[in-house]
Amino acid sequence: MTRTASHPAVRAAAPFHPADHDDAWWRSAVIYQIYPRSWADSDGDGMGDLPGITARLEHLQYLGVDAIWLSPFYTSPQADAGYDVADYRDVDPRFGALADADALLARAHELGLKVIVDLVPNHSSDEHAWFRAALAAGPGSPERDRYIFRDGRGPAGDEPPNNWDSVFGGSAWTRVTEADGTPGQWYLHLFDPKQPDFNWDHDEVRAEFESVLRFWLDRGVDGFRVDVAHGLVKQPGLPDWHNRTHMLGETDEAAAHVLDKVKPQPTNLSPYWDQDGVHEIYRSWRRVLDSYGTPARILCAEAWVEPQERAVLYTRPDEMHQAFNFDFLGTPWVAEDLVAVIERSLEAADSVGAPSTWVLSNHDVVRHATRLGYAPGTKRKNGIGADDPQPDRARGLQRARAATTLMLGLPGGAYLYQGEELGLPESTTMPDEFRQDPTFVRTGGEELGRDGCRVPIPWTKDAPGFGFGPSDRTWLPQPEVYGDYAVDQQRGVAGSTLELYRTLLATRAELGLGRASLALVEGYAADVVALEAAGPESGRVLVLANLGDEAVELPAGADVVAASGPLADGRVPTDTTVWARLA
Ligand code: NOJ
Repeated sequence: MTRTASHPAVRAAAPFHPADHDDAWWRSAVIYQIYPRSWADSDGDGMGDLPGITARLEHLQYLGVDAIWLSPFYTSPQADAGYDVADYRDVDPRFGALADADALLARAHELGLKVIVDLVPNHSSDEHAWFRAALAAGPGSPERDRYIFRDGRGPAGDEPPNNWDSVFGGSAWTRVTEADGTPGQWYLHLFDPKQPDFNWDHDEVRAEFESVLRFWLDRGVDGFRVDVAHGLVKQPGLPDWHNRTHMLGETDEAAAHVLDKVKPQPTNLSPYWDQDGVHEIYRSWRRVLDSYGTPARILCAEAWVEPQERAVLYTRPDEMHQAFNFDFLGTPWVAEDLVAVIERSLEAADSVGAPSTWVLSNHDVVRHATRLGYAPGTKRKNGIGADDPQPDRARGLQRARAATTLMLGLPGGAYLYQGEELGLPESTTMPDEFRQDPTFVRTGGEELGRDGCRVPIPWTKDAPGFGFGPSDRTWLPQPEVYGDYAVDQQRGVAGSTLELYRTLLATRAELGLGRASLALVEGYAADVVALEAAGPESGRVLVLANLGDEAVELPAGADVVAASGPLADGRVPTDTTVWARLA
């Protein structure tokens, strides 16, 4: 492609993605992730809670999202910040009580927000009643059979049953001490030892989770984000496997896969990820959800599955509604890579009739305002500390705004992570003594872990704890600079990141961009992403992200309806994305 000097004539190729004529709410919804520990604290203990969330929901109506997804708030010893559930049918006292969950649901619905809760079916807490019963009942008991207990290898049984590593580092097996005080069997935990994996071959496990689904559906939730959806079924015999799975925060290989620079390693070759048997579970769940009628209650898979063709199997018409698209999150700030991942994602999703989803940040990865403050292609790490190279914060924010403007111009569903609407950076200098992610300890500090993206949200600049709660306590320290990003510094302020997000969400809804067709636009340089969205409400809209060094001309007559930053004499500067209606 050659650079066009001025006023390029926009020539869109034939759409590679058709317009979506199904108006089910979830197919184009923008869903905002709330991490309950860190959004808003009502009682001053420094830990966020459900009443804190309820009191602040109006912020999300102002922002203009369709739904919220709440990370786990269930009874839990918090060994993995709530992804270690001890009681799936109750609220942890740190976060409130069941009545607070009901009040949150009612208020959200009153404000027109749907509510998705997190479901953690791969593992429970070791403090779950079933696991306690399993320990007490001993080897060979029916109680043990609900989890994955095995005898150890070696003459004394003192070696783990196989060589699997935990995602958090170290062995995936822990040996128990039997009731008589002797060293006993081992149990599997793909994550922390305090997160024993369920045995999904067991009918009681299957029945229990259908019952848990109904418990929350009956209370009125609109859906579930399904944790580790690709992990429930293990290969029979639990064969050795010579790979360690890393959290999705760590590499740029996903993007490399997209361009076939590195051959994708099908995830199902692992004996514990993406086994074909998981799909029957989701078919049965879909039947449960469908029995609640319309508007649909939905399932969204958190499944780190390669390649895309396998990932979309989770969203076949009789399985889940959505799956997170982590390839997009892992793509470096390189135009060709972004175009490739957008095309591949939509084509793969279209092959099963599902919408794609888009996401740039969540509670497991370095925030994108910080990630993009490093040179494109920099190897991503699981956490950043004071000894690491520090990001270029201004550049990161500019690119983050451009990346979000690109993302929200794409058809399908989109997920936002709390604080990104403020342009919030990662905490990159947190002293180690505050770190709580189990990865930090289990890797001996080699991986700093995910605390840096989980820091409590700043609401008010001139208030203790930046207004997180009524006291100055926050469970993780807030960087001083967070005050400048506080909601009260941005609300109603033209050009702020909060107001940019509002404009994007309102314009996206008004133009129906979430259901538009998409085509590549020819005639721009290779460092420009140029797409044409088209639909009945929008007409033709150019979504153009300039990742190159030179400002880019817009076509004659283009009417800019949103821009991630100021234009320069009508041209689109470096690291800026615009949406422009075409005549
Ligand atoms: C994925 C969750 O997003 C993450 O936070 C958690 O540590 C693991 N699953 C284990 O539940």
